[in-house]
Amino acid sequence: MMDKNQDTKRLFFGLDLPNDKKDLISNWLATNVSSSRKPVRKANLHLTLAFLPNVNTINKKKLVEFANQIIATPFKLRFSQTDYWQKTGIFFLKPNTTPKALSHLAHKLRDKGEALGIYNNPFAYHPHITLMRGCKQQPIEIKPLPPIEVSFTQFTLFHSTRIENTLCYRPIRSFSLT
Ligand code: 2AM
Repeated sequence: MMDKNQDTKRLFFGLDLPNDKKDLISNWLATNVSSSRKPVRKANLHLTLAFLPNVNTINKKKLVEFANQIIATPFKLRFSQTDYWQKTGIFFLKPNTTPKALSHLAHKLRDKGEALGIYNNPFAYHPHITLMRGCKQQPIEIKPLPPIEVSFTQFTLFHSTRIENTLCYRPIRSFSLT
């Protein structure tokens, strides 16, 4: 019989975006960015805090318990700049500045993932919202994105999964920033 605890999932902690901001970004991508690649689905636009592949049931419980007791303050992010990582082909939106509250939160969550033996982050933390993947060249912006400001008062543990062959990020649980 298969042990349920060995059943692993691809999870991540992230910041979800309000629907009106997802609409703005998605409409701008569809009308003002030229690329051979398709944009990320509107529902999937988010900012990753900590990537956690292969999480078993026991570790998922530990991650939830850990996130529940984190004391972190809310913060605002302003987005008006895009960038492109040629090596990974990722075109992304980046916050104009990284508040300490954001980097502290991301580091706490990444460190916990490392301490549980889930994932060793090979790169420093670079907050970003992925807009397109697999771009061989930097997409061309016909018009820049009007600046977007978002207040974050919670973070979320997501399950990255495929539903009818479509990549979906399903929220498992959200945690307040106070
Ligand atoms: P992204 O943040 O660049 O979009 C779920 O797969 C989320 O975790 C995605 O948002 C994804 O990338 C991020 N992710 C996937 N693989 C990763 C990796 N090897 N290191 C860090 N983050 C990763």
